[in-house]
Amino acid sequence: MAFSGSRPAPTHVLAHLSDTHLIAGGGLLAGHIDTPEQLRKALARVEASGETFDALVISGDLADSGDPAAYALLREIVDPVVERLGCDLVLTGGNHDERRPMSLALYGEDSDDPHDTVTFVRGLRIIALDSAVPGFHHGGFSDAQYAWLARELETAAEHGTILVIHHAPITYRSPVMQLLDFDDVDRLRSVLDGTDVRAILSGHLHVTSFGTLGGIPVFVAGGISYVDDVGAPRDLLMGVDGPQSWNLIEVHTDQVVGTVAPVEQHKTWPALSEAVMEFMETVPEQDRRTVFSTKR
Ligand SMILES: [Fe+2]
Ligand SMILES: [Fe+2]
Repeated sequence: MAFSGSRPAPTHVLAHLSDTHLIAGGGLLAGHIDTPEQLRKALARVEASGETFDALVISGDLADSGDPAAYALLREIVDPVVERLGCDLVLTGGNHDERRPMSLALYGEDSDDPHDTVTFVRGLRIIALDSAVPGFHHGGFSDAQYAWLARELETAAEHGTILVIHHAPITYRSPVMQLLDFDDVDRLRSVLDGTDVRAILSGHLHVTSFGTLGGIPVFVAGGISYVDDVGAPRDLLMGVDGPQSWNLIEVHTDQVVGTVAPVEQHKTWPALSEAVMEFMETVPEQDRRTVFSTKR
């Protein structure tokens, strides 16, 4: 049986991945992570979800070291998936990316300028800005980027705006990562104040995390490549080969909901027995909540 759901369906659905850190040519990240395989596994799970996606978003650190071959590999892996999903692709750079080889390989542009984009999907605006500061690992925007963003946001979009920024503008627990965070958060907050921005999708922390910037929710997607071990003391920065994940972002008319989806396919089983499902089919729709929710 397929329940239609007692709440309205989201207006838009996004798959948000981050920190693929692709290495081409068979190299392994930290000596043991097969980054192309991680991305393939993640995208297989995105496709297996059966969702109708409006956009696939990858929020930076696309390549591990700005290698042109890694960007070509990204296209090779991602483009057929996007084609099958029939959705838009939104990419942005991170501190591990290098703008010129990234722009050349991904967009055919020989440029050091940030490749900032505006994508409209059925009235939802997705703005992606490259928060990498050339030559550094911390993040931020140039004056020109702030001016561009403010101009774009002067006009509201029908369903509002989702911002994609690699460096998450929230305070993460790791003192090491705080040295590499977004600079400056106050300026970004004031630019976004009073605009139609409804959520910020970020990465960089290699961990699933949530926070707010002013009143705007920030959803941080855990790394596709590797994860920061939150079970370790905060002054250590320990990578862990799992639990890699991506975020399912559902945009409703009145809220934005983020749900974490693991990259690894774990053992699953039907949480409801066939008998229960068959019985529920016989219950009229208006009675299902009472019947299903009642403790027995
Ligand atoms: Fe990263
Ligand atoms: Fe990063």
